[in-house]
Amino acid sequence: MSVGLDIGSKTIKIVELSKEGNTFRLRASGVVAHKSKTPEHIKEDKELGLLAEAVKKLHKEAKITSREVGIALPETQVYTRTIKFPQLTDAEIASAVRWEAEQYIPIPVNEAIVQHQIIERRDDTSPPSVSVLLVAAPKELVEKYARVVEMAGLSLAAVETELIALVRSLAPEDQTVLLVDFGARSSDIAIARNGQLVFSRSIPTAGEAFTRAVSQTLGVEEAQAEEYKKAYGLSSTQLEGKIKGALDPIFRLVADEMKKATHFYQSEEKGDSPSSAILSGGSAGMPEAASTLTKLLGIEVVVGNPFSKVNVDPEAVKSLSGYAPFYSIAVGLAMRE
Ligand SMILES: Nc1ncnc2c1ncn2[C@@H]1O[C@H](COP(=O)(O)OP(=O)(O)OP(=O)(O)O)[C@@H](O)[C@H]1O
Ligand SMILES: [Mg+2]
Repeated sequence: MSVGLDIGSKTIKIVELSKEGNTFRLRASGVVAHKSKTPEHIKEDKELGLLAEAVKKLHKEAKITSREVGIALPETQVYTRTIKFPQLTDAEIASAVRWEAEQYIPIPVNEAIVQHQIIERRDDTSPPSVSVLLVAAPKELVEKYARVVEMAGLSLAAVETELIALVRSLAPEDQTVLLVDFGARSSDIAIARNGQLVFSRSIPTAGEAFTRAVSQTLGVEEAQAEEYKKAYGLSSTQLEGKIKGALDPIFRLVADEMKKATHFYQSEEKGDSPSSAILSGGSAGMPEAASTLTKLLGIEVVVGNPFSKVNVDPEAVKSLSGYAPFYSIAVGLAMRE
């Protein structure tokens, strides 16, 4: 059994998977809205405790059996870079990463947890090169998440970043794709090549900004704006296109960042252009989000299904309906080796 726990700014998601040969089976899952701050914004143990209570309750109510959980650090708080080395051995790369991390991350190395993954070894470049994904997170941040897990009566089995988990559940093995997690507070953008994260970026514009735009433009309360957003989204035929009109400028900002990510990847990494985009997160459920992005980006855009590589009982399929996009990160975490 393997458990993924995704603590978002608005909702907490938990998923338990078991391995079945080469695939997985969904054992249990749950999602709940919460009112706490996320750990990076909390200073007091007491407040971490409130969040831990919510996690504990969800773990119990979702009937998760294992107490060992993998968590994802928010993309806004971590540093991810792709760096190139000459053809060194795995051990040499591990030590080079340790020595060179300082120049790639904006925090002192002794205050950071640094991890790396070898993306690919290439013999067709001169000289031959190795691409390495470097991920660094402030130790203090990891300690806060660990504290929440501990206070919830659970134990920490793994720490990853949101986009590394997302790539595992949604990215195809044989293509270059753009992935976006549209949450409440941030939109996290990744490019994955052959199932590996090669580029990532996070912008502080997502569901809450969409709701605020509707609220301000139409002069309605936030709760009403939230309902309008979820019901009508970017549809031009609903409410005379008023909701779409309010959302459009903000939505375009996000689309522009997706375009920028693609251009950056093509020019810096000499990578091929993503053939499609896959959306996840609660805001991916916004009516017409995928079709609008298809028009803006000129590539196929779909809402991803993180359970596509998971066997799910018919009963559970019903209860998951509509919620699948919320679970992409938690599923990816539970799929770790
Ligand atoms: N049908 C819908 N249409 C539009 N937005 C939706 C819909 N359903 C949920 N949302 C939005 O999704 C957001 C919550 O998504 P999610 O649970 O992925 O966020 P989170 O993980 O808590 O946030 P973050 O990752 O940014 O910290 C909320 O802003 C909510 O308004
Ligand atoms: Mg999230």
